[in-house]
Formats: sequence, C-alpha cells, structure tokens
Amino acid sequence: FESGLLAGKHVVITAGPTREALDPVRYISNHSSGKMGYALATAAVEAGARVTLISGPSQLPAPDRVEFVSIDSAEQMLTASMQAAEHCDMFIGGAAVCDYRPEAISEHKIKKQGEATLTLSLVPNPDIIASVVKQYPAVYSVAFAAETENVLEYARAKRVKKGVHCIIANDVSDDHIGFNSDENAVTIIDRSGDIRLDQRSKAQLARDLIELLANKSEQAKDT
Ligand code: PMT
Repeated sequence: FESGLLAGKHVVITAGPTREALDPVRYISNHSSGKMGYALATAAVEAGARVTLISGPSQLPAPDRVEFVSIDSAEQMLTASMQAAEHCDMFIGGAAVCDYRPEAISEHKIKKQGEATLTLSLVPNPDIIASVVKQYPAVYSVAFAAETENVLEYARAKRVKKGVHCIIANDVSDDHIGFNSDENAVTIIDRSGDIRLDQRSKAQLARDLIELLANKSEQAKDT
C-alpha cells in the first residue's frame, strides 16, 4: 500500500493476552501470542502512522518505531488504553483480554488443601474497547471477535454491543488461523457489509487490514 496512507495519524493497538494473578506465582491467561497485534502495529508503522502498542506478556520483540507499553492485567491495559486513546485517530483491540479475574489476589502462595476441591471466585473485567468507545466516540474503533461457533452471527452482535465501528471476526476453532498461528483468515464487518480475507500470513493480513481500515476510517468521517 501507499506508505503515507496513515501519515499524521496516531493508531493505538492492543495485543497479546492479559494475565490475571491468583497469587504471587500463578495466573489465569490464554494462548494469545501477540503475533496478530504486533503485525498490525508493524503494518501501521509502514503506513506512516505514529503507533502505540499496548501489549500483554509476549515472547515477541517490540516492533521498531512503536511506542511500546507493557502491561500484565486487563485493569492495567484499561488504564494504558484510556491514556493512549485520548488523542488517537484509530483504536484496534487485538488483545485477548481475560473476561474475568480472581476476586482477590492471595498475598501468599495458595496452599494445597489435601484432596479437597478448590473453588475460585472470579469477577468480570472492565470492557476495554467499550470504555474507549464511550469516552472517545470520535476515535475510529476496531475490535476483534474470537469465536469458536456461529462466528459471523456472534461477531455482528459483539459489534453492536461494544459500539465499535468495525469488528474483525476470527474463527479460532481452527488451529491454523487463530491463537499463536502464523496465518489467519478473517471477515471484516461494519455497517457497509462484510469483507472476507482468506487465509494468509498474519504479516500480509495485517497490511491488508490496515489498508482497509485506513480507508474505512476516512469514510466514517464523511457520514
Ligand atoms: O495473538 P495471536 O496468537 O496472534 O492471536 C490472535 C488473536 C486470535 C488473539 C486475535 O486475532 C483476536 O481474535 N483477538 C481478540 C481475542 C479476544 O479475546 O476476543 P473477544 O471476542 O473475547 O473480545 C472481543 C473484543 O473486545 C476484542 O477486540 C478484545 O480486545 C476486546 N475486549 C475483550 C474483553 C475485555 N474485557 N475488553 C476488551 O476490550
């Protein structure tokens, strides 16, 4: 794509998993590697944007020329996102944020209680992208929807519920195109309809998505 496509724009991207601590040595998390979000950050830099990448724990090196913010928990990602999104043009929620966190973090390592069942009490985490949309409605907002069934239907419902301009439906029941894979295939859904991007490397998909989203965000301003 044109290298100046996002010149002068500030794009904020979240990536990777969040980690929700149970005690000093244990946590709840998921299999997100950060590959999709980091590829989007790289593509946005190539398109000329100023990029803030807010990332949960990942093995990947921070891409060149991004403003990198490292976080662990969903609550930390929320704080970093609200701060970074204040003056941004586009917010892309690529992170796999844990929907729940332990109600309390034990100060000490939880001891094994013989053979008895241990029950964890979880409370919902704040919805980061919905909070960004509410606070900064002028920012062009893009969520992902990671689904294992009824992918398009659930993604459409999530777009409305979160109030985002656009949602990227990702069928994560297929190991080749979801968490920690090198390739992905998605459907981009917004008011104007669906666009299917078939399986390709996450790097190429990210470039194709950035080009589409740059154009869509310009069109959103005219409506
Ligand atoms: O990191 P990789 O290994 O490359 O894998 C990529 C991916 C599969 C993680 C990525 O393509 C993807 O689908 N990311 C979203 C994963 C997810 O958790 O989706 P969700 O359907 O649970 O969440 C929907 C959207 O709301 C997402 O944009 C998410 O960032 C956001 N969200 C979710 C929960 C929450 N509390 N706050 C949020 O902002």
